[in-house]
Amino acid sequence: MNKKQFEKEVARRRTFGIISHPDAGKTTLTEKLLLYGGAIQEAGAVKNNKIKKGATSDFMEIERQRGISVATSVLAFEYRDIKINILDTPGHKDFAEDTFRTLTAVDSVIVVIDVAKGVEEQTEKLVEVCRMRNIPMIVFINKMDREGKDAFDLMDEIEQKLGLRVTPLSFPIGMGYDLKGIYNIHKQNINLFIGASSKEIHNTTAIDNLNDQLLDQLVGDKAAEILREEVELVTGIYPDFNREEYLAGDLQPVFFGSALHNFGVKELLDGFIEIAPAPRPKKAEERLVQPNEDEFSGFVFKIHANMDPKHRDRLAFIKIVSGVFERNKAYKHIRLNKNLKFSSPNAFFAERKEIVDESFPGDIVGLHDTGNFKIGDTLTSGEALHYKGIPSFSPEHFRYINNSDPMKSKQLAKGIDQLMDEGVAQLFTLELNGRKIIGTVGALQFEVIQYRLEHEYGASCSYENLNVYKACWIETKDVNSAEFKDFKRVKAKFLAHDKRDQLVFLADSSFSLQMTQQKYPSIKFHFVSEFE
Ligand code: G4P
Repeated sequence: MNKKQFEKEVARRRTFGIISHPDAGKTTLTEKLLLYGGAIQEAGAVKNNKIKKGATSDFMEIERQRGISVATSVLAFEYRDIKINILDTPGHKDFAEDTFRTLTAVDSVIVVIDVAKGVEEQTEKLVEVCRMRNIPMIVFINKMDREGKDAFDLMDEIEQKLGLRVTPLSFPIGMGYDLKGIYNIHKQNINLFIGASSKEIHNTTAIDNLNDQLLDQLVGDKAAEILREEVELVTGIYPDFNREEYLAGDLQPVFFGSALHNFGVKELLDGFIEIAPAPRPKKAEERLVQPNEDEFSGFVFKIHANMDPKHRDRLAFIKIVSGVFERNKAYKHIRLNKNLKFSSPNAFFAERKEIVDESFPGDIVGLHDTGNFKIGDTLTSGEALHYKGIPSFSPEHFRYINNSDPMKSKQLAKGIDQLMDEGVAQLFTLELNGRKIIGTVGALQFEVIQYRLEHEYGASCSYENLNVYKACWIETKDVNSAEFKDFKRVKAKFLAHDKRDQLVFLADSSFSLQMTQQKYPSIKFHFVSEFE
């Protein structure tokens, strides 16, 4: 492949994630996008991966299905000669870490908001992460076929709660029972809602001009009048769309629609492929790496255990940052300083995975792994690069983990090690006595770990409660200072090391954390494991 063809391949890729609070319509929207791409034939084909009751059995069932068909982690399809990669982001808050990590591999996101519920808790958290990373965001306001908040009020709420600067690219004509259609501000035409069934894609009627009398005939004089007024207001209040600002994360275009009724989805998709970024450059510790560079590089953002007990291997998901990834070519695993070859790299499509010979920047490949990879690892053609930006956040729940079967301590150690590499939870080892502590984002993970240790590694464990409020990663300029030595002596009981051997302070309450911070002003306490 010559350079020109390579650049064309890079330019036609769009890799993104859909984020939302559970139930806003992420699964439904994903499915409709796949229908447009011809990747699936009918609605209902995408497995809903949400955990309805928060029960472990649900999670296990989902994991089991996914283990067999990991394709749901990445959904790739082609639409108008654009290769679209949708990365799956779990909505359940107990799996927020997984979503945060996936966000390091996307080039943009679509934020789905329920018109009736407005901005919800998980949306706030996820958008904050995107904002911190200046990820370009498009907002999709869903469920317009239902009664909900007024469009202007909702956009105010989005600006205030999410700290975004929005501009609508489409605008609803009515809502709920009275939803008549959507005006496409960007293209200046109208698509009328014809109460489509949710099963197939219907063509909608287009009108070219807002002043066309045909509009009055179709939606009625009153609705037509309101729309003209509202659109005037929109142009008065909101900034003009500017792609550069959107790409820099400074402006967020808004689309309206109903994923279930397949309404406004095509406008969203067409708008998306027109404005969303192709693969973006990525910062390594050493330098900024451009996607069009000749040499391959990529990083692991997700590891998925194969839940089939007969096949103990795992899949490491690599986002390609630069160059071409080729099957059977030796690449360097930077952390292990070791060359590895992959004979069956997987690419993912809506309903299947396939072995691929070549993949390009923006693409995700799944590599079979027997324990070489950890989340955050970099793989390159040879250059020593370390991709930045997969931090761990302080867990919310902490428990001691004990071995309940002394004959199986090796299995337990291996199991814990591998589950932590996958990012299921975080492990801390107390400095004082070497006891192991598991920290998780949600209580559900403790059961998941116990279940998996037993079923995948034949080990059994028990937990013991431990009162920890937050884990803080410690930074000091001078490890030999009297202040730091005093801190280490006085707080010895609360000090631990994480998997990368970084020092962590386990504060037992917000009060004690505050007191400690006051007492040791030269020490920095971070809630995230990566800091500049
Ligand atoms: P999620 O992945 O974000 O959690 O949401 P999901 O797509 O599963 O949608 C949550 C619920 O909202 C589903 O109903 C879905 O049918 C409904 N929904 C999605 N988009 C729209 C829309 O545009 N309009 C309306 N009225 N409803 C929408 P459910 O009853 O929870 O599930 P199901 O039994 O229909 O699958």
